[in-house]
Formats: sequence, structure tokens, C-alpha cells
Amino acid sequence: MKNEKRLVMALVVLVVMFLVLLGASGGFENATPQQATEDDSEPADEDLIVVGFSQLGSESVWRATHTQSIQDALSKENGFFLQYSNARQKQENQIKAIRGFISQRVDYIVFSPLMEEGWETVLTEAKDAGIPVILVDRKIAGSEDLYTTFIGSDMEAEGRKAGEWLENDLARRGRADDPLNIVVLTGPFGSTSQIGRSCGFMQVASQHPSWNILTQESGDFTVVKGKEVMAKLLRLYEDIDVVVSQNDEMTFGAMEAIAEAGLTTGIYGKMKMISFDGVKDALELVDSGKINCEVECNPLQGELLADVIKKLEAGEKVDKEYFVDELVFTANNVRDYLSDRVY
Ligand code: AHR
Repeated sequence: MKNEKRLVMALVVLVVMFLVLLGASGGFENATPQQATEDDSEPADEDLIVVGFSQLGSESVWRATHTQSIQDALSKENGFFLQYSNARQKQENQIKAIRGFISQRVDYIVFSPLMEEGWETVLTEAKDAGIPVILVDRKIAGSEDLYTTFIGSDMEAEGRKAGEWLENDLARRGRADDPLNIVVLTGPFGSTSQIGRSCGFMQVASQHPSWNILTQESGDFTVVKGKEVMAKLLRLYEDIDVVVSQNDEMTFGAMEAIAEAGLTTGIYGKMKMISFDGVKDALELVDSGKINCEVECNPLQGELLADVIKKLEAGEKVDKEYFVDELVFTANNVRDYLSDRVY
């Protein structure tokens, strides 16, 4: 028994001596986080504002420009560390990305919600974790307490601008009361861009009993679906006078379908074409008279976003919403903007 005790004691002494020697020889280096940070020659990441950005997809030139604008503005040179995630048009991917940002304890969550509904649970989790949420481009339904601020377009105003352009164009030609058959190619139902633009256009349309809205159908904001839906509508309705297309990609697709049906659009064509976004290719078509009216949706939101985050960092109060500036382009003014358009 005595011998066993001695053996145990000897072993303990040996282990302690081994640990002391290992420590002295630097064997524990990098085991302490303090040393790892001190050794870093790069500026430590904790100097940067960490932002998790969940983009909803990459369906359009507009979207690619929007993503780029945010990536450019939230750069390391500007004091940000940006984590970017593309949800590829799936709400569950956006929810997963937001949960990931919460568990990484980012400083801010920025996201462009695919749909307005369905964010309550995950945004409550972000709120409980004390992470401010900034909406860009599109909004959410429900409580305003779930986000700090919104930066983007006034989609309802955009819809109204489309309706007002049509109203004025008809009046100018002395055709204000002519019966008019209208089809609307919408974005995905339930998205802010669809809800706002449809709602704004209908506010004007409801004042014109002679405007007959034949149908509103989603073309998913893509060229392929825009073409497919337009081709179907041309088979269904013989006499379409106006196409309202809620983004440029669908407009390009719809124009292909219209051309393949042997029909024409624009100032000298059979159908009036109204589009939204205002990307360079679309402005060229306004210039050549094939699109009558482009309602601008401005994707350059990155700089404003960076300013707002810096304000929040400085403890300043920010507005609940910020709208970007947007114009309406027709053949009368488009040349003034065409050469400066970079997207
Ligand atoms: O939410 C903005 C819309 O989404 C743009 O009009 C469209 O092109 C984009 O995909």
C-alpha cells in the first residue's frame, strides 16, 4: 500500500515537471488568444464594423448592381467587414443566413427580403440578440419594431408614376376616354416591388373607367418567364393596347414574344410598353422608341447604407425609412442620362 502511494506521488511530480518545462519552452504559444491577436500584422477585425448581408438572389441586372453597390460601399477601406450571402430566391436560405449572422454575433444584419411575410420569428431572434436589422430594397409586413431602418425605393410611388405617365400621354393625344386593354406582368406576388407597383398603378387606373385591366400575371422578374407569360397572354387576348412590365428583364422577354407574334411596341408600335428599373439596355430601347416609358428603380443604395450605419455607430438617431432618388425616362429626356448609365 505504502509503495503504491509512493508510485502515485512520483507520477504526479513527473507530470507537473513536464507541464512546467513545456510552458517555459513556448509549447503553449498560440494557445492563448491574446498572443494570437498580438501577432497579427493585419488590422484586427474588431476594428471593423461587421455586417452580415443577405441578398435575395441574382435574377436581374438591377439586382447585380444593387449587390455590387453594397459590396463597394461596405469595404474594408471604408471600415467594414462584409459577410455576403446569396439566398437564390429561397426564403428559407435567407432565414438560415440571418440565423448564421446572429450566431456569429455580427454588428449589423442587412437584408433584402424576398417576400414581405414570414420574418417575425427570425427577426425576433435578431432583436433578442441585440443586433440591429437594416432592410434594403424591399420591406417586411408586420411590426416595425423588428428593424431599425429601411433604405430603398418608394415602390408605390413608382407604380403611380407609371399610371400617371399613361394618363398624361393619352390626354396629350386627346384619347383620354378611349377604351384601353392593359396587361400587367408583375414581379413575384408578395414581394414589396410587386405589391407597391401594382398598388400605385391601380390607384391611377381606378380613376379611369375606360382602362380595362385584362390580367396581372407574375413573370418572376426574369427574361424567360416574362417571355413565356407574354406569349401566353398574346394567345389569350387579341387586342392588348398596353403592357405594364414591372421590371426590365420581363420587358426584354415580353418584347421577344411580341416580336415573334409579328407585333410591335413603343411610340410607333401597336402596344404601349411601360417598364421599371431603367438599366442601360432598356434606356437604349426608350431612345429608339420601342419602350414608351421607363420608371426608374435606383439600385445604388450602398453609400446611403454605409452612411446610415456610421450614424448608428456614432449613436445618432436615424430615420425609419430612406428613399433613393428616382426619375421617369421617355424619349424626351433619355439622352440626358444614357451616357452616364453604368449598369
Ligand atoms: O426589388 C427591386 C426589383 O427586384 C427590381 O425591379 C428587379 O429588377 C429586381 O429583381
